[in-house]
Amino acid sequence: MAELAAEIANLKAWKKAVILAHNYQLPDVQDLADFVGDSLGLSVQASKTDARVIIFCGVDFMAETAAVLNPGKIVIHPAPEAMCPMSMMIDAANVRELRQQHPGAPVVSYVNTSAEVKAESDICCTSSNAVKVVQSLPDREAIFLPDRNLGMYVQRFVRDKVLYLWPGYCPTHQQIKKEDLLQLKKDHPRAISIVHPECTPDVIDVADKAFSTEGLVGFIRSSGEREFIIGTEGGLIHRLKKISPDKTYYEIPSAVCPTMKKITPALILKSLQTLEPRVTIEKGIMDRARGPIERMVNMGRGD
Ligand code: 13P
Ligand code: SF4
Repeated sequence: MAELAAEIANLKAWKKAVILAHNYQLPDVQDLADFVGDSLGLSVQASKTDARVIIFCGVDFMAETAAVLNPGKIVIHPAPEAMCPMSMMIDAANVRELRQQHPGAPVVSYVNTSAEVKAESDICCTSSNAVKVVQSLPDREAIFLPDRNLGMYVQRFVRDKVLYLWPGYCPTHQQIKKEDLLQLKKDHPRAISIVHPECTPDVIDVADKAFSTEGLVGFIRSSGEREFIIGTEGGLIHRLKKISPDKTYYEIPSAVCPTMKKITPALILKSLQTLEPRVTIEKGIMDRARGPIERMVNMGRGD
């Protein structure tokens, strides 16, 4: 691993590349990255990097977002088959139909969508700033897609607007059950339980807090508590152990996102050697998707 890491570091410098990795990536991949974070943090990093090449370690929509924000750069997704199943639950035609059903209602798209869907949207959001984005709209109604759970979470805080939701969901968070969380709380009565807002409403109801992955990291970093139940994908625990090694984390063993585990150090090395596989998006789609993504980035964090 040390040899591989050294080779990757050399190639990275030679090719003027930066490695960005999501909080759910494999520990070895996180350790190789220049920046590890959530969807919003990664979009911000992608928008301000002066690297020539971005090696994006995450799922497809994240690499696409980096490409839309950097039309002049080479953006590489080392495992193009690493696709987020939620983002495949809606397409551009569905968004156009929703607009016809709710004329005048703006479209807020979760960043977990394809570039085509973003191109049909007014503004994007991540789990960090979804509430802030919806609150910022002057309208009394909005279409929120594709994550129904996140939409219902936003609706808790935004009582003065009607949200039209789409029945999309994250398979990894959908199968975190209230009973799993209640059992962990019973076993570890001093632990603070934190879940991701992609969890179902009954799970969020019994948790102490709900945060984006980076919001969760920030909360734990500054908390005086010692024990935490982590109600999201287990990859985050590697990050937490590095940042706050003195604290104890209890995970939900079934909470694994298989597509987030497809990128390996060997694939990163290959990507740096070949500068492939590149993320390519049709120019017209790129140009229309950029505005909604930039509005999301400019909104900043909400948690
Ligand atoms: P975050 O933006 O909170 O990292 O979430 C991304 C994601 O895909 C969660 O499943
Ligand atoms: Fe998509 Fe869920 Fe995996 Fe996040 S955890 S990338 S929403 S499948």
